[in-house]
Amino acid sequence: MVGTAIERLYRRLLARMLTPGHPDATASACFLTGGLQSATFPNDRLAPAAKVAPVATPGGTGAVGPFPPGIRTDEQRDEYDKLRRRVLWTLPYGLYVVGSRAGERRNAMTLNWVTQLSFEPKLVGVGVEKSALTHELISEGRVFSLCTVARDDRAVVRKFTKPVEVDLAAMTLNGFAFHHGVTGAPILDQAPGYLDCEVRQLVDAGNHTFFVGEVVDAGFQAAEDTEVLRMEDTRMNYGG
Ligand SMILES: Cc1cc2nc3c(=O)[nH]c(=O)nc-3n(C[C@H](O)[C@H](O)[C@H](O)COP(=O)(O)O)c2cc1C
Repeated sequence: MVGTAIERLYRRLLARMLTPGHPDATASACFLTGGLQSATFPNDRLAPAAKVAPVATPGGTGAVGPFPPGIRTDEQRDEYDKLRRRVLWTLPYGLYVVGSRAGERRNAMTLNWVTQLSFEPKLVGVGVEKSALTHELISEGRVFSLCTVARDDRAVVRKFTKPVEVDLAAMTLNGFAFHHGVTGAPILDQAPGYLDCEVRQLVDAGNHTFFVGEVVDAGFQAAEDTEVLRMEDTRMNYGG
């Protein structure tokens, strides 16, 4: 059951990350394969997924329109789809762990689709896939926390790509110590900085929802000049 869910996640991520012709395709694939297998799955449950042909089928639907003028054949559509993805991959991102809470349910998830949206009030938005547990918890609980990740702590990213194991006695999420923010959302103790947010708006964004949150608390938990992790520090990708 768990293995099946993991395989689904793995295939989804793999589909997003692998595109023939993308310069990082092979490296990304190796990183993800090695990372998930060694970090989480000592057995060979993922071996069949690892053999999935490295063909990008984002969302499993093939080339996604609309297409600009002059793009008519299936081949042209596929080429354009790949090109657009490569352009999207060049958008710079940070990497974060978003904490969510609904009643007694908690989760933490790796995420890069984040931006500040307003000076006054202080609004930030996070793009969360509709199938994620995090989506369910933020929709229900109407709060989320956003934790930055130290640059030399990049292994954290791979620990939060599936629903976490919560140990309330030990106050850990997948073994990582946490505490509750003022909203009740979990905040990783080792995050250099955090924003604690109450949801003010939900924007439907295709297969994601963009949750707009107002910052109700913020703080540093490490030296203010601690370098934070960015997507380019890893060989991962999410987008395109
Ligand atoms: C590097 C990286 C970045 C990611 N960024 C996002 C993101 O911005 N939004 C999102 O919904 N999922 C993102 N994900 C995928 C989620 O971490 C993943 O789908 C997770 O399983 C969903 O978590 P949940 O079901 O535990 O809530 C990213 C994954 C990785 C590896």
